[in-house]
Amino acid sequence: MSLTEFPAGAHSQLHGASLTKVTMPALSERKRQAKPISALTAYDYATARLADEAGIDLVLVGDSLAMVVLGHENTLAITVDEMLHHTRAVRRAVRRALVVADMPFGSYHGSVAEGVANAVRFVKDAGAEAVKIEGPRFELAHALTEAEIPVVGHLGLTPQSVHRMGGYRVQARTAEAVRRLQAEALALAEAGAGVIVLEGVPREAAAEITAGLPVPTIGIGAGPGCDGQILVFHDLVGLTFAPPAKFVRRYADAGALIRSAIAQYREEVENRAFPSDEESYHLPAAERQALKTAQQARALRKA
Ligand code: KIV
Repeated sequence: MSLTEFPAGAHSQLHGASLTKVTMPALSERKRQAKPISALTAYDYATARLADEAGIDLVLVGDSLAMVVLGHENTLAITVDEMLHHTRAVRRAVRRALVVADMPFGSYHGSVAEGVANAVRFVKDAGAEAVKIEGPRFELAHALTEAEIPVVGHLGLTPQSVHRMGGYRVQARTAEAVRRLQAEALALAEAGAGVIVLEGVPREAAAEITAGLPVPTIGIGAGPGCDGQILVFHDLVGLTFAPPAKFVRRYADAGALIRSAIAQYREEVENRAFPSDEESYHLPAAERQALKTAQQARALRKA
């Protein structure tokens, strides 16, 4: 058995997919074999475990958690400590998928040294196997690679640049802008990024960039021509409250399911239908009888 394989345990038996551990080099191999890579965000033990057991290749602890879990308006407020907390939970759940942690806004923008120091925390303290950085940060990608930390780049619509972009807008909308983005993607790969997320770009741009890149691209709102796809977990299962973006496909309506389960629970508490006798613990028969006898004696004394 190779070091990257897990012995079959209770958790692993639940997997439909192969248990060979997904690594950064394995993702490059998938590009060579033209086998699409599945990626999904997760922020806690339960959802990460479900994603892993479903055979997802890359689990991203995305800073989108600021919005979909913590209710912030954008991703900017989330801190390194908060991201570490969620990365640890995901790490405890995942056996097969590659665990990637998003470096939050402000954790790598001041200096390359600060970026490397924060990335080390994600690997050392939280068990991340790669970190994701937004934008064409070639020097940082190089320094992280030198520090043995695998890098996932993120280009196109980069949510941490929301104020500079003036909103969440599709990027690379002209041939010239596609050429610039392609140059950035190539330079990022040359600097060491082993995977590049392309977000919010026309499908033609993503396909062109993907074809010319030595490392896999993972698209979100970038069309079918990428080497893989990623979605935000809450979008995929219908746990968001605003209308979904054009690129989202909802595979379930968990929001409706959970809302109706909670409403039914509330109703059954209010009309005493929950809990039932079967859902209650009982005294052993002898203790029940002793309790009853004591109650009867008290009632007799009162009468
Ligand atoms: O934070 C996130 O969820 C992401 C994905 C959208 C790629 O960066």
